[in-house]
Amino acid sequence: MRILFIGDIVGSIGRDQLEHYLPKLKQKYQPQLTIVNGENAAAGKGITEKIYKQLLASGADFLTMGNHTFDKKEIFDFIDDAKKMVRPANFPEGTPGKGMDFVNVNGKEVAIISLQGRTFMPPLDDPFRMVNDLIKEAKKRTNLIFIDFHAEATSEKLAFAWYLDGQVSAVVGTHTHVQTADNRLLDQGTAYITDVGMTGPYDGIIGTDREAVIKKFLTQLPVRFEATKTGKAQLSGVVIDLNESTGKATSIERIMISDDHPFFN
Ligand SMILES: [Fe+2]
Repeated sequence: MRILFIGDIVGSIGRDQLEHYLPKLKQKYQPQLTIVNGENAAAGKGITEKIYKQLLASGADFLTMGNHTFDKKEIFDFIDDAKKMVRPANFPEGTPGKGMDFVNVNGKEVAIISLQGRTFMPPLDDPFRMVNDLIKEAKKRTNLIFIDFHAEATSEKLAFAWYLDGQVSAVVGTHTHVQTADNRLLDQGTAYITDVGMTGPYDGIIGTDREAVIKKFLTQLPVRFEATKTGKAQLSGVVIDLNESTGKATSIERIMISDDHPFFN
């Protein structure tokens, strides 16, 4: 089974980029399942129902979220009906939405789990402890388990992936918006990358207008951060191949599309 995962969609530029390239990527890589991180899709923070539907219409089969999941108030109106979306499972018990779900891909179930790190992040429940219960539950149904680990620190992401090596099919990191070049298979067959990178503005600073970010560093005064709305764009992703009978990964390849890395069919 081949899974295409596209990293954090940022604002309208990111959504346009997905709409434009996803059909081409599907043609090139022929994935059976396409998962997209949508937590920054609404102007860089959160998601609306309209954008949730738009990302699915662009070709995403399922969405993962992160620390910005609840930034747009209207999420509370639709998250419990959003069948194709998971938010970090380690939000406190009782939080709307779900942290794990299953998708049927040609008769095979795939578990999709979202978890958030805690280093330099809001202190959610411990993902290292929580993930064991989620895996136990998932394994009752499938050995194809995909995890989006939304976290800041490279060390936490690496520790999390090695902790799970051989138990899950893939651990892909999201949130930093900068793609790392360390995609690999771990010893026991878990596919891993520290960060997939983002899909959005190419010339901002992790998707935000760069003048505002530089001003913040220079002055330390409050600054309004906004997702860049015009200019060059990029798309970041990974393609992961899984052995359907063992649940182990057999390859993980990076995708980067930008002016400096043009797309080739
Ligand atoms: Fe994030």
